[in-house]
Amino acid sequence: MGKITAAITAVGGYIPDYVLTNQILETMVDTNDEWITTRTGIKERRILKEEGKGTSFLAIQAANDLIKKNGIDPAGIDMVIMATATPDMPVAVTGVYVATQIGAVNAFSYDLTAACSSFLYGMSIASSYIESGRYKKVLLIGADKMSSIIDYEDRTTCIIFGDGAGAVLFEPNPEGYGLRDEILKSDGIGRQSLKIDAGGSILPANEETVRNKQHYVFQDGKTVFKFAVSNMADVSERIMQRNNLTGDDVDWLVPHQANKRIIDATAKRMGLPEEKVMINIHKYGNTTSATLPLCLVDYEKQLKKGDNLVFASFGGGFTWGSVYLKWAYDPK
Ligand code: UT7
Repeated sequence: MGKITAAITAVGGYIPDYVLTNQILETMVDTNDEWITTRTGIKERRILKEEGKGTSFLAIQAANDLIKKNGIDPAGIDMVIMATATPDMPVAVTGVYVATQIGAVNAFSYDLTAACSSFLYGMSIASSYIESGRYKKVLLIGADKMSSIIDYEDRTTCIIFGDGAGAVLFEPNPEGYGLRDEILKSDGIGRQSLKIDAGGSILPANEETVRNKQHYVFQDGKTVFKFAVSNMADVSERIMQRNNLTGDDVDWLVPHQANKRIIDATAKRMGLPEEKVMINIHKYGNTTSATLPLCLVDYEKQLKKGDNLVFASFGGGFTWGSVYLKWAYDPK
Protein backbone atom coordinates (compact mmCIF):
# COMPACT_ATOMS: atom_id res chain seq x y z
CA MET A 1 0.00 0.00 0.00
CA GLY A 2 1.28 3.48 -0.88
CA LYS A 3 1.84 6.35 1.49
CA ILE A 4 -1.28 7.91 3.01
CA THR A 5 -1.68 11.52 1.88
CA ALA A 6 -3.94 14.19 3.40
CA ALA A 7 -6.64 15.38 1.01
CA ILE A 8 -9.07 18.26 1.31
CA THR A 9 -12.49 16.60 1.09
CA ALA A 10 -14.83 19.51 1.92
CA VAL A 11 -14.81 23.31 2.13
CA GLY A 12 -17.07 25.95 3.68
CA GLY A 13 -17.00 29.68 4.22
CA TYR A 14 -18.64 32.72 5.71
CA ILE A 15 -18.43 36.46 5.16
CA PRO A 16 -20.43 39.02 7.14
CA ASP A 17 -23.22 40.97 5.44
CA TYR A 18 -21.96 44.53 5.87
CA VAL A 19 -20.10 45.77 2.78
CA LEU A 20 -17.49 48.49 3.32
CA THR A 21 -16.91 49.94 -0.17
CA ASN A 22 -14.11 52.20 -1.37
CA GLN A 23 -16.76 54.90 -1.74
CA ILE A 24 -17.66 54.66 1.95
CA LEU A 25 -13.97 54.75 2.90
CA GLU A 26 -13.65 57.98 0.86
CA THR A 27 -15.98 59.57 3.42
CA MET A 28 -13.94 58.27 6.37
CA VAL A 29 -10.29 58.97 5.43
CA ASP A 30 -8.33 60.90 2.80
CA THR A 31 -8.37 58.28 0.05
CA ASN A 32 -10.10 57.50 -3.21
CA ASP A 33 -11.40 54.54 -5.16
CA GLU A 34 -8.84 55.01 -7.94
CA TRP A 35 -5.85 54.87 -5.54
CA ILE A 36 -7.15 51.83 -3.68
CA THR A 37 -8.06 49.97 -6.86
CA THR A 38 -4.80 50.56 -8.70
CA ARG A 39 -2.52 50.05 -5.66
CA THR A 40 -4.27 47.04 -4.13
CA GLY A 41 -7.03 45.66 -6.39
CA ILE A 42 -9.59 46.02 -3.59
CA LYS A 43 -13.08 47.41 -4.27
CA GLU A 44 -14.89 46.36 -1.09
CA ARG A 45 -14.51 44.29 2.07
CA ARG A 46 -16.90 42.72 4.60
CA ILE A 47 -17.13 43.83 8.23
CA LEU A 48 -18.68 42.02 11.19
CA LYS A 49 -20.60 44.90 12.73
CA GLU A 50 -22.62 43.23 15.50
CA GLU A 51 -21.30 44.03 18.94
CA GLY A 52 -20.20 41.14 21.11
CA LYS A 53 -19.33 38.90 18.16
CA GLY A 54 -15.73 37.96 17.52
CA THR A 55 -13.65 35.70 15.31
CA SER A 56 -15.34 32.60 16.75
CA PHE A 57 -18.65 33.75 15.27
CA LEU A 58 -17.12 33.87 11.78
CA ALA A 59 -15.40 30.51 12.29
CA ILE A 60 -18.54 28.78 13.54
CA GLN A 61 -20.52 29.96 10.50
CA ALA A 62 -17.80 28.74 8.12
CA ALA A 63 -17.52 25.35 9.84
CA ASN A 64 -21.30 24.91 9.90
CA ASP A 65 -21.45 25.76 6.19
CA LEU A 66 -18.94 22.97 5.51
CA ILE A 67 -20.79 20.52 7.78
CA LYS A 68 -24.21 21.28 6.30
CA LYS A 69 -23.17 21.28 2.63
CA ASN A 70 -21.36 17.96 2.96
CA GLY A 71 -23.59 16.13 5.43
CA ILE A 72 -20.74 15.66 7.89
CA ASP A 73 -21.30 14.38 11.44
CA PRO A 74 -19.37 16.86 13.64
CA ALA A 75 -18.99 14.19 16.32
CA GLY A 76 -16.68 12.34 13.91
CA ILE A 77 -14.17 15.20 13.71
CA ASP A 78 -10.93 14.34 15.58
CA MET A 79 -9.41 17.79 15.86
CA VAL A 80 -10.08 21.43 15.05
CA ILE A 81 -7.15 23.69 14.20
CA MET A 82 -8.07 27.36 14.44
CA ALA A 83 -5.76 29.54 12.34
CA THR A 84 -6.17 33.17 13.37
CA ALA A 85 -4.37 36.40 14.16
CA THR A 86 -7.39 37.80 16.01
CA PRO A 87 -8.47 35.31 18.70
CA ASP A 88 -11.65 36.14 20.62
CA MET A 89 -9.56 36.96 23.67
CA PRO A 90 -6.09 36.22 25.08
CA VAL A 91 -5.54 32.91 26.87
CA ALA A 92 -8.99 31.32 26.35
CA VAL A 93 -8.47 29.28 23.17
CA THR A 94 -10.88 30.37 20.41
CA GLY A 95 -10.78 27.02 18.59
CA VAL A 96 -11.96 25.16 21.69
CA TYR A 97 -15.10 27.28 21.87
CA VAL A 98 -15.67 26.88 18.12
CA ALA A 99 -15.30 23.09 18.32
CA THR A 100 -17.86 22.90 21.13
CA GLN A 101 -20.31 25.20 19.36
CA ILE A 102 -20.26 23.19 16.11
CA GLY A 103 -20.82 19.91 17.95
CA ALA A 104 -17.30 18.53 17.47
CA VAL A 105 -17.66 16.93 20.89
CA ASN A 106 -14.95 14.32 20.35
CA ALA A 107 -12.36 16.72 18.99
CA PHE A 108 -9.54 18.56 20.71
CA SER A 109 -8.57 21.99 19.46
CA TYR A 110 -6.01 24.76 19.60
CA ASP A 111 -5.22 28.08 17.94
CA LEU A 112 -2.40 28.54 15.50
CA THR A 113 -0.97 31.97 14.83
CA ALA A 114 1.43 32.89 12.04
CA ALA A 115 -0.17 36.16 10.84
CA CYS A 116 -1.24 35.92 7.19
CA SER A 117 0.46 32.52 6.84
CA SER A 118 -1.57 30.94 9.65
CA PHE A 119 -3.77 28.93 7.30
CA LEU A 120 -0.88 27.80 5.09
CA TYR A 121 1.09 26.58 8.12
CA GLY A 122 -2.14 24.96 9.34
CA MET A 123 -2.34 22.96 6.10
CA SER A 124 1.05 21.49 6.92
CA ILE A 125 0.09 20.65 10.50
CA ALA A 126 -3.32 19.18 9.61
CA SER A 127 -1.71 17.03 6.91
CA SER A 128 1.02 15.79 9.23
CA TYR A 129 -1.55 14.51 11.73
CA ILE A 130 -3.36 12.67 8.93
CA GLU A 131 -0.21 11.28 7.29
CA SER A 132 0.99 9.94 10.64
CA GLY A 133 -2.21 7.91 10.86
CA ARG A 134 -3.02 9.41 14.23
CA TYR A 135 -6.24 11.19 13.20
CA LYS A 136 -8.73 10.70 10.38
CA LYS A 137 -10.71 13.94 10.23
CA VAL A 138 -8.97 17.25 10.86
CA LEU A 139 -10.95 20.46 10.46
CA LEU A 140 -8.76 23.46 9.65
CA ILE A 141 -10.44 26.85 10.00
CA GLY A 142 -8.94 30.20 8.96
CA ALA A 143 -10.83 33.14 10.44
CA ASP A 144 -10.10 36.74 11.28
CA LYS A 145 -12.05 39.73 12.46
CA MET A 146 -9.44 42.21 11.23
CA SER A 147 -11.83 45.11 11.85
CA SER A 148 -11.23 44.59 15.59
CA ILE A 149 -7.57 45.66 15.30
CA ILE A 150 -7.78 48.30 12.57
CA ASP A 151 -7.74 52.06 13.08
CA TYR A 152 -10.42 53.44 10.76
CA GLU A 153 -8.64 56.80 10.80
CA ASP A 154 -5.43 55.30 9.35
CA ARG A 155 -5.71 55.27 5.57
CA THR A 156 -2.63 53.09 5.15
CA THR A 157 -4.28 50.08 6.82
CA CYS A 158 -8.06 50.55 6.93
CA ILE A 159 -8.42 50.26 3.16
CA ILE A 160 -6.78 46.85 3.09
CA PHE A 161 -8.32 44.50 5.63
CA GLY A 162 -11.68 42.76 5.95
CA ASP A 163 -13.40 40.08 8.04
CA GLY A 164 -14.15 36.50 6.98
CA ALA A 165 -13.69 32.80 7.59
CA GLY A 166 -13.11 29.61 5.65
CA ALA A 167 -12.87 25.97 6.68
CA VAL A 168 -11.52 22.80 5.07
CA LEU A 169 -11.66 19.15 6.13
CA PHE A 170 -8.55 17.01 5.72
CA GLU A 171 -8.94 13.21 5.44
CA PRO A 172 -6.60 10.34 4.53
CA ASN A 173 -6.32 9.45 0.83
CA PRO A 174 -4.71 6.22 -0.40
CA GLU A 175 -4.38 7.38 -4.05
CA GLY A 176 -1.93 10.22 -3.61
CA TYR A 177 -4.39 13.11 -3.73
CA GLY A 178 -3.92 15.95 -1.25
CA LEU A 179 -0.84 17.70 0.08
CA ARG A 180 2.26 16.64 -1.88
CA ASP A 181 4.94 19.13 -0.88
CA GLU A 182 5.55 22.29 1.13
CA ILE A 183 8.15 24.99 1.63
CA LEU A 184 7.57 26.94 4.85
CA LYS A 185 9.77 29.87 5.82
CA SER A 186 10.05 32.53 8.51
CA ASP A 187 12.41 35.40 9.34
CA GLY A 188 12.33 37.63 12.42
CA ILE A 189 13.66 40.52 10.35
CA GLY A 190 10.01 41.42 9.80
CA ARG A 191 9.10 41.89 13.48
CA GLN A 192 8.88 45.68 13.33
CA SER A 193 7.29 45.95 9.86
CA LEU A 194 3.85 44.54 10.63
CA LYS A 195 2.75 44.50 14.24
CA ILE A 196 0.55 45.67 17.08
CA ASP A 197 2.76 47.35 19.68
CA ALA A 198 0.53 47.20 22.74
CA GLY A 199 -1.60 44.55 24.39
CA GLY A 200 1.06 41.84 24.43
CA SER A 201 3.56 40.84 27.11
CA ILE A 202 6.14 43.51 26.20
CA LEU A 203 3.76 46.42 26.44
CA PRO A 204 0.49 45.55 28.17
CA ALA A 205 -2.35 47.88 27.25
CA ASN A 206 -2.81 50.94 29.45
CA GLU A 207 -4.48 54.31 29.14
CA GLU A 208 -1.49 55.79 27.35
CA THR A 209 -1.17 52.99 24.79
CA VAL A 210 -4.85 53.31 23.99
CA ARG A 211 -4.53 57.08 23.66
CA ASN A 212 -1.57 56.51 21.28
CA LYS A 213 -3.59 53.97 19.30
CA GLN A 214 -0.92 51.33 19.88
CA HIS A 215 -3.57 48.61 20.06
CA TYR A 216 -4.08 48.90 16.30
CA VAL A 217 -2.15 47.31 13.43
CA PHE A 218 0.91 49.17 12.23
CA GLN A 219 2.31 48.29 8.82
CA ASP A 220 5.38 49.58 7.00
CA GLY A 221 3.67 48.81 3.70
CA LYS A 222 6.61 49.43 1.40
CA THR A 223 8.95 47.08 3.28
CA VAL A 224 6.35 44.34 3.59
CA PHE A 225 5.50 44.73 -0.09
CA LYS A 226 9.16 44.33 -1.12
CA PHE A 227 9.66 41.16 0.93
CA ALA A 228 6.27 39.75 -0.04
CA VAL A 229 6.82 40.12 -3.78
CA SER A 230 10.21 38.42 -3.86
CA ASN A 231 9.60 35.73 -1.25
CA MET A 232 6.15 34.58 -2.34
CA ALA A 233 7.37 34.28 -5.92
CA ASP A 234 10.60 32.50 -4.84
CA VAL A 235 8.91 29.71 -2.89
CA SER A 236 6.22 29.22 -5.52
CA GLU A 237 8.81 28.88 -8.27
CA ARG A 238 10.93 26.54 -6.12
CA ILE A 239 8.05 24.22 -5.29
CA MET A 240 7.26 23.95 -8.99
CA GLN A 241 10.87 23.10 -9.86
CA ARG A 242 11.13 20.58 -7.04
CA ASN A 243 8.03 18.76 -8.31
CA ASN A 244 8.89 19.06 -12.02
CA LEU A 245 5.84 21.25 -12.66
CA THR A 246 5.74 23.74 -15.52
CA GLY A 247 3.23 26.56 -15.87
CA ASP A 248 1.17 24.18 -18.04
CA ASP A 249 1.03 21.55 -15.28
CA VAL A 250 -0.23 23.94 -12.59
CA ASP A 251 -4.00 24.33 -12.81
CA TRP A 252 -4.43 26.94 -10.08
CA LEU A 253 -2.42 29.38 -8.02
CA VAL A 254 -4.18 29.92 -4.68
CA PRO A 255 -2.45 33.05 -3.38
CA HIS A 256 -2.84 35.01 -0.16
CA GLN A 257 -4.95 38.06 -1.02
CA ALA A 258 -2.91 40.97 0.33
CA ASN A 259 -2.33 43.00 -2.81
CA LYS A 260 -3.24 42.25 -6.42
CA ARG A 261 0.21 43.45 -7.50
CA ILE A 262 1.91 40.84 -5.28
CA ILE A 263 -0.36 38.14 -6.71
CA ASP A 264 0.37 39.23 -10.30
CA ALA A 265 4.14 39.18 -9.68
CA THR A 266 3.93 35.65 -8.24
CA ALA A 267 1.80 34.37 -11.14
CA LYS A 268 4.17 35.93 -13.66
CA ARG A 269 7.23 34.24 -12.12
CA MET A 270 5.35 30.91 -12.22
CA GLY A 271 4.44 31.43 -15.87
CA LEU A 272 0.69 31.32 -15.18
CA PRO A 273 -1.98 33.21 -17.13
CA GLU A 274 -4.59 35.21 -15.20
CA GLU A 275 -7.27 32.52 -15.72
CA LYS A 276 -5.33 30.15 -13.47
CA VAL A 277 -5.13 32.53 -10.52
CA MET A 278 -7.78 32.54 -7.80
CA ILE A 279 -8.76 36.11 -6.97
CA ASN A 280 -11.30 37.48 -4.52
CA ILE A 281 -9.35 40.41 -3.09
CA HIS A 282 -11.64 42.85 -4.97
CA LYS A 283 -14.64 41.78 -2.86
CA TYR A 284 -13.15 40.77 0.51
CA GLY A 285 -9.84 42.68 0.83
CA ASN A 286 -7.21 40.98 2.99
CA THR A 287 -8.95 38.65 5.44
CA THR A 288 -5.59 37.38 6.79
CA SER A 289 -6.10 33.71 7.80
CA ALA A 290 -9.27 33.38 5.72
CA THR A 291 -7.98 34.35 2.26
CA LEU A 292 -6.88 30.88 1.12
CA PRO A 293 -9.94 28.86 2.23
CA LEU A 294 -12.28 31.59 0.93
CA CYS A 295 -10.58 31.23 -2.48
CA LEU A 296 -11.36 27.50 -2.38
CA VAL A 297 -14.99 28.22 -1.50
CA ASP A 298 -15.35 30.69 -4.37
CA TYR A 299 -13.65 28.43 -6.94
CA GLU A 300 -14.79 24.98 -5.66
CA LYS A 301 -17.20 24.45 -8.57
CA GLN A 302 -14.36 24.94 -11.08
CA LEU A 303 -11.98 22.46 -9.42
CA LYS A 304 -11.56 18.95 -10.83
CA LYS A 305 -10.12 15.80 -9.31
CA GLY A 306 -6.39 15.72 -10.04
CA ASP A 307 -5.97 19.48 -10.50
CA ASN A 308 -2.56 20.73 -9.37
CA LEU A 309 -2.93 23.62 -6.91
CA VAL A 310 -0.05 25.75 -5.65
CA PHE A 311 -0.86 27.76 -2.52
CA ALA A 312 1.32 30.72 -1.53
CA SER A 313 1.26 33.19 1.33
CA PHE A 314 3.26 35.93 3.00
CA GLY A 315 2.60 37.63 6.32
CA GLY A 316 3.80 39.37 9.46
CA GLY A 317 6.79 37.99 11.31
CA PHE A 318 7.79 37.48 8.51
CA THR A 319 6.14 34.15 7.70
CA TRP A 320 5.69 32.75 4.22
CA GLY A 321 5.56 29.60 2.18
CA SER A 322 4.11 27.51 -0.56
CA VAL A 323 2.14 24.25 -0.63
CA TYR A 324 1.60 21.91 -3.58
CA LEU A 325 -1.69 20.00 -3.34
CA LYS A 326 -3.52 17.64 -5.72
CA TRP A 327 -7.27 18.32 -5.60
CA ALA A 328 -9.21 15.22 -4.56
CA TYR A 329 -12.74 15.59 -5.93
CA ASP A 330 -14.86 16.75 -8.85
CA PRO A 331 -17.59 19.36 -8.29
CA LYS A 332 -20.20 17.80 -5.98
O1 UT7 B 1 -1.02 40.37 4.34
C1 UT7 B 1 0.11 40.67 5.09
C2 UT7 B 1 1.18 41.20 4.26
N1 UT7 B 1 0.88 42.53 3.80
C3 UT7 B 1 1.15 42.89 2.58
O2 UT7 B 1 1.58 42.10 1.80
C4 UT7 B 1 0.93 44.34 2.22
C5 UT7 B 1 2.13 44.86 1.47
N2 UT7 B 1 2.07 46.28 1.15
C6 UT7 B 1 1.18 46.81 0.28
O3 UT7 B 1 0.30 46.13 -0.21
C7 UT7 B 1 1.36 48.25 -0.13
O4 UT7 B 1 2.59 48.71 0.34
C8 UT7 B 1 0.22 49.20 0.37
C9 UT7 B 1 -1.06 48.90 -0.37
C10 UT7 B 1 0.05 49.04 1.86
C11 UT7 B 1 0.61 50.64 0.06
O5 UT7 B 1 0.86 50.79 -1.33
P1 UT7 B 1 2.19 51.48 -1.86
O6 UT7 B 1 2.10 51.49 -3.31
O7 UT7 B 1 3.36 50.74 -1.24
O8 UT7 B 1 2.05 52.93 -1.29
P2 UT7 B 1 3.05 53.76 -0.40
O9 UT7 B 1 3.00 53.30 1.01
O10 UT7 B 1 4.40 53.78 -1.07
O11 UT7 B 1 2.44 55.20 -0.50
C12 UT7 B 1 2.43 55.94 -1.73
C13 UT7 B 1 1.69 57.25 -1.52
C14 UT7 B 1 2.14 58.00 -0.27
O12 UT7 B 1 2.08 59.39 -0.56
P3 UT7 B 1 3.41 60.21 -0.95
O13 UT7 B 1 4.33 60.04 0.21
O14 UT7 B 1 3.93 59.57 -2.20
O15 UT7 B 1 2.91 61.60 -1.15
C15 UT7 B 1 1.09 57.68 0.75
O16 UT7 B 1 0.94 58.66 1.73
O17 UT7 B 1 0.30 56.97 -1.34
C16 UT7 B 1 -0.16 57.59 -0.12
N3 UT7 B 1 -1.19 56.75 0.46
C17 UT7 B 1 -2.49 56.85 0.12
N4 UT7 B 1 -3.14 57.67 -0.73
C18 UT7 B 1 -4.48 57.50 -0.88
C19 UT7 B 1 -1.07 55.76 1.38
N5 UT7 B 1 -2.26 55.22 1.63
C20 UT7 B 1 -3.16 55.88 0.87
C21 UT7 B 1 -4.55 55.77 0.69
N6 UT7 B 1 -5.16 56.60 -0.19
N7 UT7 B 1 -5.30 54.85 1.35
